[in-house]
Amino acid sequence: MTHISVAAPAASALSLSTGERKLRRATAADVGPLAEVLADAVYEDPVYGWLIPSNRRRLASLRRFFEIQLQIVGLARGSVYTTAGLAGAAISTPPGSWRLPASAALRNGAGFAHVFGVHMPRALAYLLRVERRHVQGPHHYIATVGVAPSSQGQGLGSELLRPTLDLCDTKQRSVYIEASSARNAALYERLGFSVTGEMRLRVSPPLRLMLRLPLPQETT
Ligand SMILES: CC(C)(COP(=O)(O)OP(=O)(O)OC[C@H]1O[C@@H](n2cnc3c(N)ncnc32)[C@H](O)[C@@H]1OP(=O)(O)O)[C@@H](O)C(=O)NCCC(=O)NCCS
Repeated sequence: MTHISVAAPAASALSLSTGERKLRRATAADVGPLAEVLADAVYEDPVYGWLIPSNRRRLASLRRFFEIQLQIVGLARGSVYTTAGLAGAAISTPPGSWRLPASAALRNGAGFAHVFGVHMPRALAYLLRVERRHVQGPHHYIATVGVAPSSQGQGLGSELLRPTLDLCDTKQRSVYIEASSARNAALYERLGFSVTGEMRLRVSPPLRLMLRLPLPQETT
């Protein structure tokens, strides 16, 4: 869910069509608007609600959180897919890039403290536990997928995940995701993920740990 890192620049002008919509790779100019969209998307999510319990602070905190994640995970060392209208985003990292280096955590310490406020110790304990349960071995990691509430349920979330899933099938790689609600776990199951475990910290909502093995490629 939140393993944030810094490294090689990656955003390219790549765009492709999946289903009805044209997807494109996000750039630095998209960070602000996409952080707002992702914050709106997860505002009602049980895990984010537990991590940032104040209804008054949550939206602004989530925007700051996703600004950081988009910059230092998606754009710095992974990919961010979005649509022409910025209705949603999927942030993922390639094999070997999911873990937050200590240097990046330290550089963004003030930002994370702003996000979690007085709940920072609990958030840190939670995120460290999430990190300890992270799947071993080479894999792609979908750090976040979110769609603007007004655009949910129209296939966009599935489409935003498609480039990563197709790449993983082509390269015969696994892909890992953490599902923060039963409803989004059901979506991921339909896309080929299976639950490999469940994690919680004390009374936190459960986080379902999910892995998708690549589809066998046809040999001719
Ligand atoms: C999960 C999410 C990315 C899926 O995008 P989408 O465009 O709505 O998804 P699709 O139209 O491709 O598929 C619909 C399925 O997504 C899931 N879904 C839809 N709205 C959802 C919501 N508000 N919360 C969780 N899952 C949702 C459901 O499984 C739904 O199928 P259902 O209507 O039969 O229950 C999007 O709904 C969302 O941003 N939800 C809130 C944030 C979130 O849960 N992010 C994932 C964190 S792990």
